[in-house]
Amino acid sequence: MVSLFVNGKKVSVDAEPDTPLLWVLREELQLTGTKFGCGMALCGACTVHLDGQAVRSCQTPISAAAGKKVATIEGIGASPTGKAVQAAWVAHDVPQCGYCQSGQIMSACALLASKKSPSDADIDGAMSGNICRCGTYNEIRAAIKEAAVHLGGKSAPAKAAKEA
Ligand code: FES
Ligand code: FES
Repeated sequence: MVSLFVNGKKVSVDAEPDTPLLWVLREELQLTGTKFGCGMALCGACTVHLDGQAVRSCQTPISAAAGKKVATIEGIGASPTGKAVQAAWVAHDVPQCGYCQSGQIMSACALLASKKSPSDADIDGAMSGNICRCGTYNEIRAAIKEAAVHLGGKSAPAKAAKEA
């Protein structure tokens, strides 16, 4: 039995220590907003926060989350950063198919929690592991900048988005 805190609630799950956190979230706790993409820490679709850090839940064993705080897309809106990021996502109409977007938002929230006024390089660095096959990178960058301003940071000058 492994106990952890998910979106502020203590949960105990009966799982093997090497069970990926992603499986526990989706299959045991029915938190299906976190998506399975590659299963190899390459796409970012499964990104959640573990004690405030963005991690790939497909490659995080549940044993590594024991006693820790996990935040998912279902709970991130309760924080000021999550609220600001989600509002900016809506304002910039970021999602296309939507599949990558919960992971994108979780990475963006982790970035803004550590950097109030991220530069383009900061954004590219923090978001480079989150792949969007629909190519929403321009909108993601604009939304992160808007959320940063909303949270009291500064807006950096825009630059061209990377290729999808
Ligand atoms: S599903 Fe975890 S990084 Fe792709
Ligand atoms: S919105 Fe479709 S993969 Fe990103």
